[in-house]
Amino acid sequence: MEKRVVYTAATIAAVACVVAVIVIRKRSKGIKWGKVKEMFKEIESKCALPIERLKQIASAMETEMHAGLASDGGSKLKMLLSYVDRLPTGGEEGLFYALDLGGTNFRVLRVQLGGKEGGVVRQEYQEVSIPPHLMVGSSHDLFDFIAEALSSFVASEGEEYKVPEGKQRELGFTFSFPVKQLSLSSGTLIKWTKGFCIEETVGEDVVAELTKAMERQGLDMKVTALVNDTVGTLVGGRYEDGDVMAGVILGTGSNAAYVERASSIPKWHDELPKSGEMVINMEWGNFKSPLLPVTEFDEALDFESLNPGEQIYEKLISGMYLGEVVRRVLLKISEEFPIFGDIVPPKLESPFILRTPQMSGIHHDSSPDLKVVAKKLKETLGIHNTSIKTRKFVVDVCDMVAKRAARLAAAGIYAIIKKIGRDTLSDDKQRTVIAIDGGLFEHYTAFSDCLERTLRELLGEEVANSVVIKHANDGSGIGAALIAASHSN
Ligand code: GLC
Repeated sequence: MEKRVVYTAATIAAVACVVAVIVIRKRSKGIKWGKVKEMFKEIESKCALPIERLKQIASAMETEMHAGLASDGGSKLKMLLSYVDRLPTGGEEGLFYALDLGGTNFRVLRVQLGGKEGGVVRQEYQEVSIPPHLMVGSSHDLFDFIAEALSSFVASEGEEYKVPEGKQRELGFTFSFPVKQLSLSSGTLIKWTKGFCIEETVGEDVVAELTKAMERQGLDMKVTALVNDTVGTLVGGRYEDGDVMAGVILGTGSNAAYVERASSIPKWHDELPKSGEMVINMEWGNFKSPLLPVTEFDEALDFESLNPGEQIYEKLISGMYLGEVVRRVLLKISEEFPIFGDIVPPKLESPFILRTPQMSGIHHDSSPDLKVVAKKLKETLGIHNTSIKTRKFVVDVCDMVAKRAARLAAAGIYAIIKKIGRDTLSDDKQRTVIAIDGGLFEHYTAFSDCLERTLRELLGEEVANSVVIKHANDGSGIGAALIAASHSN
């Protein structure tokens, strides 16, 4: 009897399966691709960024740069003073530490600098991922977690790193959030970005927070420099190449720092630095303008974010958000048309389920039947049995979102190049090098290729030949160590 029931159930299941396959086939045949494409074209036209529009966006950014340099609060662009007014000379020497906090991972580094002849003699690092609850928990817990990792990194080092009695280890702290610097080695947090949200840290000196946590760990270390990752990238880049004028991060978040003439910073009231220069952390992620191609998907993403109304440019261009924009577009289309079958795939409704690395995998699939796309759709979104047409369509959505981001990022770089007057050819054909770091730039080739192409287009062929984009791999940690070295006691 029992056997019979099982047999019957199995038969029903098998029949159901066959019926389901037939229904899916029928439904995918039922997709009105003409209408889908129409809807896509409409979204695409809202994301379009012809070169003239990009030039207008760059000019708007340049105007905001001036305003932010004129006074604090004068613009959405904070144009923060970094207090870095001496760029590395190559003569930096000694053992320095760096701590790099800015995303879901943080890194601790030990760097041995060998002076003029030696360069970076040795560097070692350890990467630790931050448990998500600490990103929205308490200041005390976050800094304790970091100090603990730093302390065990130091505890595990060999005899060769023993610090002589009476001497303290020195640390460059890369803290990749907007900070109002009070000096090179102190600064208060203006706000959190990139998914961090710990209210009690806002307004506090983050160096004091770290120092207290290190003391709780019994770690005898002094923070000599507090730097943003863009500043670290610029400095690390300059150490390698004397023509580096800006550091850009295109990763989880996005931002840029560049070398400004101190005399062009009206809000700088102190004595002008000897070098006549100051590195400015733009915090360009917070740029906003009616010229930006913000769609209903971006508006909804922003509204539901931890920081609504803020970091609008960052939400259009950085790795934390690109996959999420794609998810929102696919969701909307699948609600209107059965591109993934009759029901909207439940997983597609989960915010942030499609991460940018997955989006990149989909976008770069060059197999004839787009099997990577099929695999990612299945694994990430639980979408099975996709037709080639559907897969191709998903690639087109990724392309649209990535292209918009890359072109906007290129406009930001163009704004910096214009601001420092390197957008025309100089008599001595001076090179201008932009050091870029971040996973989005490093791993998302379609994005970085598009960025470079667009920048050439903006600059024009002749000027473009004097501008070099350099990938500065992990430059921000080294940069912080270098700044610590050049300001060491
Ligand atoms: C965010 C932070 C900024 C940082 C950037 C890249 O935009 O506000 O300080 O430089 O991410 O990590």
